[in-house]
Amino acid sequence: MKNIVIFISGRGSNMHAILESTKSGILRDVCTVSAVISNNAEAKGLETAAESGVETKIVPSKNRDSESYTAQLIETVLVYNPDLIVLAGYMKILKPAFIEAFSGKIINIHPADTKQHQGLHAYEWAFENKLNKTYITVHYVDAGVDTGVIIGQAEVDLTNAETLAEVEKRGLAVEHTFYSRMIKKIITQREE
Ligand code: GAR
Repeated sequence: MKNIVIFISGRGSNMHAILESTKSGILRDVCTVSAVISNNAEAKGLETAAESGVETKIVPSKNRDSESYTAQLIETVLVYNPDLIVLAGYMKILKPAFIEAFSGKIINIHPADTKQHQGLHAYEWAFENKLNKTYITVHYVDAGVDTGVIIGQAEVDLTNAETLAEVEKRGLAVEHTFYSRMIKKIITQREE
């Protein structure tokens, strides 16, 4: 049984889907979530995590220099000794010191094909460009913005999606199952 830590900054719907999956879905008996860590004390997802009985930690990033933030983040994560650090709507760029400390263990979900779109507002980008489909990407995190090695991609059908809300709804529905599938894939490959 592996142990993962989830990073969030806001709503936490992907985090919630992963938690549910560890309880009664495809991640059951695969991994447990030892902590949910947020850089934002106001993140909605913190309440959801606490309601699920998961330990939560806040490492504030606001009005703070990135070195002290990174140092505290490393210290906080080391306590849990995670096999995997799962970024789920975590909206900060991790510094090289953090990436080196947990090399090869950090993954992210991006709501677009990272070869075509990086950074924020990926659903807006798909909507404004009237894409018929977009791709959810799960990738390893390196020092760049959404430039790490791709673990897997899942297609989202956007045909006749008339509003941004509809684009997001279809995308999130895919994200919520796909992330757990990719976590399982990584963990089981490593165990072989
Ligand atoms: C998700 O759509 C996630 O893919 C995206 O933010 C949303 C977070 O929602 N992440 C990024 O854009 C990262 N660049 P959630 O907090 O409800 O999981």
